[in-house]
Amino acid sequence: MSAEPILFPRDTQAGPARDAWWRDAVVYQVYLRSFADGNGDGIGDFAGLRSRLGYLKSLGVDAVWVTPHYPSGGADGGYDVIDYKAVDPVYGDVEDVRGLVEDAHGLGLKVLLDIVPNHTSDQHAWFRTALADPDSPEAARYHFRPASEEPPNNWQSMFGGSAWSRTPDGRWYLHLFTPEQPDLNWDNPEVADDFDETLRFWYDLGVDGFRVDVAYGLFKDPQYRDNPGVYSPTLFGHGPEQVMTTNQPRIHEIWRRWRAVGDSYENGRMLVGEVSLADLKQVGLYARPDELQHAFQFRLLKSKWDATAFADTIAEALTVFASVGAPAPWVLGNHDKARQVTRYGSLRRARAAALLMLALPGSAYLYAGEELGLPEAEVPDAAKKDPIFFRSGGARAGRDGCRVPMPWDDHDALAGFSAAGSAAPWLPIPDGWRDHAVNRQAADASSTLSLYRQAISMRSLYPALGSGLGAVSRVGDVIRVDLVARDGDPDPVTCWINMSGSAAFVPARRVLLASDRTGVQERDGIVELPADTAVWVTPNSVDLR
Ligand code: NOJ
Ligand code: CA
Repeated sequence: MSAEPILFPRDTQAGPARDAWWRDAVVYQVYLRSFADGNGDGIGDFAGLRSRLGYLKSLGVDAVWVTPHYPSGGADGGYDVIDYKAVDPVYGDVEDVRGLVEDAHGLGLKVLLDIVPNHTSDQHAWFRTALADPDSPEAARYHFRPASEEPPNNWQSMFGGSAWSRTPDGRWYLHLFTPEQPDLNWDNPEVADDFDETLRFWYDLGVDGFRVDVAYGLFKDPQYRDNPGVYSPTLFGHGPEQVMTTNQPRIHEIWRRWRAVGDSYENGRMLVGEVSLADLKQVGLYARPDELQHAFQFRLLKSKWDATAFADTIAEALTVFASVGAPAPWVLGNHDKARQVTRYGSLRRARAAALLMLALPGSAYLYAGEELGLPEAEVPDAAKKDPIFFRSGGARAGRDGCRVPMPWDDHDALAGFSAAGSAAPWLPIPDGWRDHAVNRQAADASSTLSLYRQAISMRSLYPALGSGLGAVSRVGDVIRVDLVARDGDPDPVTCWINMSGSAAFVPARRVLLASDRTGVQERDGIVELPADTAVWVTPNSVDLR
């Protein structure tokens, strides 16, 4: 990218969706097991989450997305669902979800649940019947292949090894993730019918939408042809090497169908899909006006601390989503990726990246604990739970380090996650975790929590932030994002981020917010911007034709 700005048009989507709440929402992802433990068994739950909704309100977010709450075999952090219309008793019951929705709505917050349509648990009633009776209708809802010496093809699991396992009677069944997560066969219409019912079950309870797991998946090549070459897939950035197992054309039929289900409710419901395809143009297709409202792309999440990678990704994503009239959803961290502080190498960088993300046109997804600047936690191997660690024979660290319980209170031995005297937390809380606690940061104007609170509240004060019109440019390792409001509000905002190793000097009328004030100097329309720092400023001039 050159120093010339790349300019992005106002998004073009017409009709009521133009002002829908989700277009520039800040969504907060709660890892349910690790957020707050209401009953002292060492595991986060709905009672705990409900007791902390005031915190989310004070953070200023618009919506909360809750990771899977269903009865589960526990093979993959809840992404192996036994019953889609129930709540795992460890988290509460269906009435707790109703209560959560009511409390959240009372505070003006939306609630998104997580739904897992690509696979069930091997303990799901359908799969149990399918194992017992190969000729049952249930067996036809999965991908079974006849007994043979070798697996039916070269398809690989995202967590390592073949994507095929054998049943006790010698048949093969497909699982793109763990063997305890058999893939559903979406060519069978009974599967789609059943998921419509699940959507309605939760929508009827008042739930505002879903985050859709593996939304790039679901359909597989009907002839079970090999993927080309030898490949070892991971969770992010699927490319042409997985042409037979991801991004099949029929997938768009399902998102149109799900969109119609949501739209049949008053004010509609919203869907955000996990679309971790390498080709952003393909990701954009999932966010066409009659499909998913948001399609996650993970290129920014995957980018190293590198100005070229950041600027190019932002420019390309904005172009792609603008071309389908959709808002861009941004994400820097989630429950599948090591925390930003550790990935980028410092808290200072993580704070700067957050300010950049919260400026960008579109919506921003925060992962619980990033607003506290949590680093990736050291989890001893003996305490690990993630199948990625086990299936790779320990070669891959796994995702436990970003799933450690939230620290709420520095007075408390269990960091306020569970009440004193509770059972040990499901993942150990590291020494020093209390130093990051919410109560401590809430009282400190320079804390990371205070930065997030200020930044999110400024998105309401300055409609240019998170708006539909921007221009991105880069000079060396400094990125500039110019923003003007869609609705003609006269106050433009520019975000600068200095990703270089030394100070930069940028033009500005006034600094509105800095990711870290230390070293930021304002003099005669010039701001000295230290390394690894971002600022929001009132620009001297903007030139957005
Ligand atoms: C993506 C989820 O984010 C991840 O946590 C899970 O392991 C896989 N999908 C399989 O459901
Ligand atoms: Ca609990």
